[in-house]
Amino acid sequence: MSQNTLSDVAGKAALETSHPSGDPRFADLDRTIANYNAEPTALIQVLHAAQQMFGFLSADVIRYVATALKLPVSHVYGVVTFYNFFTMVPRGKHQIMVCRGTGCHVRGATQVLESLEKELGIKEGETTKDNRFSLSTARCIGACALAPAVSVGDDVYGKLTADKVKELVKSDLKKYV
Ligand code: FES
Repeated sequence: MSQNTLSDVAGKAALETSHPSGDPRFADLDRTIANYNAEPTALIQVLHAAQQMFGFLSADVIRYVATALKLPVSHVYGVVTFYNFFTMVPRGKHQIMVCRGTGCHVRGATQVLESLEKELGIKEGETTKDNRFSLSTARCIGACALAPAVSVGDDVYGKLTADKVKELVKSDLKKYV
């Protein structure tokens, strides 16, 4: 009786997905899609799962999801670009979100964003070279009493000024490795 070699097993894993790359993450995605019976109405849930698996939604993943759910690719792109929790570019390990809601805006959110961009050396929508931080904005992060506020992952930093942002970057951000 023949024994399975490592390459046989790898080959089998590759065949578990219909994606030509054989990337096992597509096999996981296939299972997620099957769990939703490939229902087009499950698009948001499937995209969420895909983003968790791949870290971001590449053009390839978007096309794959569109085909699997029998939706026009343009529709899937529309959904991905509409919701700011979806990203088409790789994000850093930690997400820095500057609130640009009205409450924060009137208390200096623009200066906070500019100061963060300067201190981190990146613009909104970009990721630091060491892949630790991505910088983005949101309409409200639910901490209006602390306006202007910024979140780093699950942590919230409030009542920020340009000077406090410098301090935030120089000391507080060190704990996010
Ligand atoms: S408006 Fe900024 S936290 Fe709500």
